[in-house]
Amino acid sequence: MKLGHLLALAAIVVVAFVPGHAWSADALRGAYLVRAAGCISCHTDKAGKGPFLAGGRAIVSPYGNFYSSNITPDAETGIGAWSDADFIQALSHGESPTGRTYYPAFPYASYSAMRREDMLDIKAYLFAQTPVRQENRGHELRFPFSWRFSIYPWRWLFFSSGEFDPDGRRGAYLVEVLGHCAECHTPRNMAGGLKRGRHLAGTRYGPDGHSVPNITPDSATGIGNWSEADIVFFFKTGLKPDGDDVQGHMRETIEDGLSHLSDEDLTAIAAYLKAQPAIRHPVRGLKSATATPSYDEW
Ligand code: HEC
Ligand code: HEC
Repeated sequence: MKLGHLLALAAIVVVAFVPGHAWSADALRGAYLVRAAGCISCHTDKAGKGPFLAGGRAIVSPYGNFYSSNITPDAETGIGAWSDADFIQALSHGESPTGRTYYPAFPYASYSAMRREDMLDIKAYLFAQTPVRQENRGHELRFPFSWRFSIYPWRWLFFSSGEFDPDGRRGAYLVEVLGHCAECHTPRNMAGGLKRGRHLAGTRYGPDGHSVPNITPDSATGIGNWSEADIVFFFKTGLKPDGDDVQGHMRETIEDGLSHLSDEDLTAIAAYLKAQPAIRHPVRGLKSATATPSYDEW
C-alpha cells in the first residue's frame, strides 16, 4: 500500500471514531471560517446561557429587536433539513428555502461574495454540531419594519448578490466578506444602506445603540497611529495601543472570532485596513446614540 493510501485510511479511521461527530476535513475548514465570519457570537445567546448556535440572541437596532435563528442541525427547529443549495441561497441571496426574504441584520450582503466552497465547509461544520431543539423567537420590530416587505426597498437599492470582488486578496476577503466589518464600522443612510463614501469610517448609530469607531488610517479620527503590529496585537488580545481593553460587540468579535485566526490572516487584515483611504470622521468621544436614530449624518 502506498503511503498516500495509508494516510487516507488513517484519516477515515480517525473520522469514523470521533464519538458523536461526523467530522470531515470540510468541517474542520468550516470551524475556522465560522470564526472568521463571526457566526458564533450572533447565533449564540451567550448572555442568556443559550445553547451553542441555537439562536435567540437579541440584536438591538433602531428598527427594533431582531433575534438570531437556530442554525444547529435540528431538523424541525434548526436547519437540519436544508440541502446545500438551500444553505447557499440563504447566504448568497438572503432567501429561505421557502422563499422568505431575510432582514439584513443577517449580514448576507457581505456573505454573498463568499466562495461557494467556503459556504459548504461552514455548512459541514454546522451539521457536525449537536442538534438543539429550540424554536426561533419572533423579531420585535417597529412598524413598518415588522412587515417583511419593508426589506424590499433596501434590497432593491442596496443589495446585489456577490457584488464585492476580493480579487484574490486575502485581506479584502477577510474584511469585506467573511469579517463583514463594514456592517458595523460603516455609517448607514436612512434606508439602511451603507454609505460608500464613508467606508469603515465609524458611526454613532451602531448595534445596540453604541458608537463604532473609525478604522480607516486617518491619524486624527481613525487608527492612523496604530502600526500593523498594534492592529494584529489588538485582534489577538483585545488590547489597544493606549492600554484600553476592548468592550461590547468588538470584544465578542475578537473572543469568538479574530483571536482564533492565524497570524498570516490577521496580518492580511491589518495590511488591508492600512491600505484604505483615510477618512476624517470623528466618532470617538461622542456619547452613545439613543435608541431613536437621528439622520443628521445623512
Ligand atoms: C450580525 C449577526 C449575525 C451574524 C454575524 C450571522 N447571522 Fe445568521 N442570522 C442573523 C439573524 C438576525 C437572522 C434572522 C434573519 C431573519 O429572520 O430575517 C439570521 C438567519 C440565519 C439563517 C437562516 C435560518 C433560518 O432558519 O431561516 C442562517 C442559515 C444563518 N443565519 C447562518 C449564518 C451563518 C452561517 C453565519 C456566519 C457565516 C451567520 N449566520 C452570521 C444574524 C446573524
Ligand atoms: C458587531 C459589530 C462589529 C463588527 C462585526 C466589527 N467590529 Fe470592530 N468594533 C466594534 C465596536 C463596537 C468597537 C469599539 C470597541 C471598544 O472601543 O471597546 C470596535 C473596535 C474596533 C477596533 C479598535 C478601534 C479603536 O479606535 O479603538 C478595530 C481596529 C476594529 N474594531 C476592527 C474591526 C475589524 C477589522 C472587523 C472585521 C474583521 C471588525 N472590527 C468587525 C464593532 C464591530
